[in-house]
Amino acid sequence: MYSQKVMEHFKNPRNMGEISDADGVGTVGNPVCGDMMTIYIKVKENRIADIKFKTFGCGAAIATSSMVTELAKGKTLEEALKITRGDIADALEGLPPVKMHCSNLAADALHAAIEDYYKKKKR
Ligand code: FES
Repeated sequence: MYSQKVMEHFKNPRNMGEISDADGVGTVGNPVCGDMMTIYIKVKENRIADIKFKTFGCGAAIATSSMVTELAKGKTLEEALKITRGDIADALEGLPPVKMHCSNLAADALHAAIEDYYKKKKR
């Protein structure tokens, strides 16, 4: 039921971990399944220079976290804000319908981390 790409990212997650001096941090959760995801970003010259994630959740949540870090790394903040739930699911060669919300979590966590960065910068 999972694509090979999902299985591969689940078994070998990219950019897993924490950035202690992150410029932006975004945490989101899904109250229905109880899964939680945090994305940490380091920003240099308006680009995502480094990105890591910590996810307490299902296999698809781990695979979507891993994929969103790959999609966002090196992108400008404006480009990263345009990464959608659909982009993440497509890059993973699809998700089962009951697991589509896991990609929502990944996109939302990325966007929350970028918004956190903007907020901190304004202060
Ligand atoms: Fe909820 Fe995967 S089952 S994020």
